[in-house]
Amino acid sequence: MNAAMACNRYWRLDAHPVGQDFAAALSLQTETPAPLADGEVRIAVDYLSMDAGTRMWMTGRTDGYQPPLALGSRMVGLVLGRVCESRAPGFAVGDLVRGFGQWAELAVVVPALAGLERIEGPLADPRDPFGVAGLNAWTAHIGVCDVAGLCAGQWLAVSAAAGATGVMACQIGRNLGAHVVGIAGGPDKCRYLTEVVGIDLALDYRAQDVSAALARIEGGVHAYFDNVGGALLDAVLPNMAHYGRVAVCGMVAGYDGAPLPGPSRFDQVLMRRLRIEGFFIPDVLASGGVFPAVLRDWAREGRLSMPFDQSEGIENVLVAYARMMGGANIGKTIVKVSR
Ligand SMILES: NC(=O)c1ccc[n+]([C@@H]2O[C@H](COP(=O)([O-])OP(=O)(O)OC[C@H]3O[C@@H](n4cnc5c(N)ncnc54)[C@H](OP(=O)(O)O)[C@@H]3O)[C@@H](O)[C@H]2O)c1
Repeated sequence: MNAAMACNRYWRLDAHPVGQDFAAALSLQTETPAPLADGEVRIAVDYLSMDAGTRMWMTGRTDGYQPPLALGSRMVGLVLGRVCESRAPGFAVGDLVRGFGQWAELAVVVPALAGLERIEGPLADPRDPFGVAGLNAWTAHIGVCDVAGLCAGQWLAVSAAAGATGVMACQIGRNLGAHVVGIAGGPDKCRYLTEVVGIDLALDYRAQDVSAALARIEGGVHAYFDNVGGALLDAVLPNMAHYGRVAVCGMVAGYDGAPLPGPSRFDQVLMRRLRIEGFFIPDVLASGGVFPAVLRDWAREGRLSMPFDQSEGIENVLVAYARMMGGANIGKTIVKVSR
């Protein structure tokens, strides 16, 4: 272990956060790293990914898709960095890797449990494994194409449309020749979606009646890529086309506490003969899924891009996380971990 690795800083979950008060629940710890056990890899982290889904792991909720993190444990999240020590076959010092590690300068993982992948270069942008070549892009593709089965000419609605997963779903829909309506918080995000991403319509759910605006779409919405759940799902369901599909990607409106009630317009599933299906990218990773080649092609052609909301330094992780959960981000929220 060299001098740079003689100490490590990491974020520890001390309590269940209340609302957006992350500072009261997580603390930055310093340690002398322990020796690796057999089968482990140490990663010098370059970038940390801030993911909305991890908010649920901070609660005590036991019926989620992932068990809650035990209080007193290291906060878990996706990391991108270089292997600096390895006692695991298949991973060598210097390998660029991405996987589920910890909010830390030095992350220690068992590759199979972390879904650790070696990243082959060259990369147009070192952040691409969290951007156009990342799990948000892949998730969006699964939801739009495999789950919602979107076709050219149809209407796709996307919630949290200017966030990391949503902005990918919007571009995928646009690239497939669909009409896209993005639902997002605030005029800046809506302007970004129509003027930069080039989707047909953007609705500011904080200022507009989403249900009334969607009702003006003739024939209704054929596919809904839902990142939010709750009130927005209720606004969309009565405005779906007959035989429409809802791809349930996330329910961020309910991640900070008790599960969301509803949907209160569940009757529309029968009235409009809808299909609603949840999906989860780790299932696809575990079953050996392959990153869709079309996403790389679109990125190369300039038809898929990920804006980054980047913060600097491990000490600013909670600031970045609150930006993302509070909706200040456009695109992917990341932290550059500099040592
Ligand atoms: N199923 C899967 O495998 C999978 C994989 C990745 C992500 N996801 C899901 O995708 C969704 C987005 O995650 P992300 O990591 O890409 O984050 P993100 O969209 O970059 O950031 C989260 C966004 O959620 C919106 N938001 C937060 N609280 C909200 C609320 N109460 N009501 C409405 N909108 C709210 C905010 O945007 P506004 O300003 O628009 O409110 C915020 O920017 C999450 O639900 C996440 O669980 C699922």
